[in-house]
Amino acid sequence: MNTKELIKTVNTLLAGDKGLLAMDESTATCNRRFEEAGIPQTIEYHRAYRELIVTTPGLGKCISGAILYDETIYQATKDGVLFVDILKQAGIIPGIKVDEGTTNLAGFHGEKITVGLDGLQQRLAKYYALGARFAKWRAVISISTVHPSMGCIEANMHALARYAAVCQEAGIVPVVEPEVLMDGPHNLKKCFDVTERVQHVLFDELFALNVNLQALILKPNMVLPGLSSSRQADIDTVAEATVTCLLQTVPAAVPGIAFLSGGQSPEMAAAHLNAMHVKYKDKLPWALTFSFARAIQQPALELWKGKDENIEAAQKMLYKRACLDNAARRGEYRAEMEKEF
Ligand code: 13P
Repeated sequence: MNTKELIKTVNTLLAGDKGLLAMDESTATCNRRFEEAGIPQTIEYHRAYRELIVTTPGLGKCISGAILYDETIYQATKDGVLFVDILKQAGIIPGIKVDEGTTNLAGFHGEKITVGLDGLQQRLAKYYALGARFAKWRAVISISTVHPSMGCIEANMHALARYAAVCQEAGIVPVVEPEVLMDGPHNLKKCFDVTERVQHVLFDELFALNVNLQALILKPNMVLPGLSSSRQADIDTVAEATVTCLLQTVPAAVPGIAFLSGGQSPEMAAAHLNAMHVKYKDKLPWALTFSFARAIQQPALELWKGKDENIEAAQKMLYKRACLDNAARRGEYRAEMEKEF
């Protein structure tokens, strides 16, 4: 394992007030988002959209790493420049989603297991040669009156740890994403308890499989009430619950935590990250940043609508969201800033 190279990549990804941009939607997810926005669901529209993202002026000032999808890592601008090269020129490290989605977990009705370990070593070697220096694997844990089961948590965290070990051997920093979904009417306490248990099991598994905690980035959910909960929580309560939960579970050796947005509005995701920095400034053992997909991309996608004449406005919006997330990482985000751009 080339620990030095891995740690250098981690430090670059976590530097300053930058964060990660997840642009790794699978073909099915991308098509779903396009359909909702009234955009044709073809490979050429996927490509054009990703070109819009990677060519956004100033993106490298706000974003340290961009997570691509297998389809995207081979794609190029209409002028023939590979997206990977555009990112590198902008000072953004290319990353790659390497899980192959979820399937039903046998023996556990209604629960999912993430797949993609078969052939992972070979795929990582290929992605490394293409320029990827970090990867992502997402495990999905849902909450209901009967879920999650311990079997589902253990199976998923074991797979995440195996993925992380294979990545580190390949010179690729693993972004480890155990996502407790927001769907459902559960309260904040339930999300806290499930997230806490998931993180405990995850770090047991990472330890058992000899994963170097200093050479990974954790990508968790924030601790929030379910989307259909009748009791929503205020911003400071979410910030406090999230940080408390992570302090209980995430070792200080982990260099950084980059949150997913998980279906929060862009404004709420920024406000929550900001509140964590305001309240816990200089008191946390790890860097706290973002690795958002929807909370950065969604407003830009809606402006674009698949039309060339909207590219500039969509890019401005993407840049604005990324800048506001930088402000949140500094603890300087204010709701009024939404109008200032
Ligand atoms: P969201 O920020 O839209 O939750 O996506 C993050 C991500 O990468 C999910 O795997």
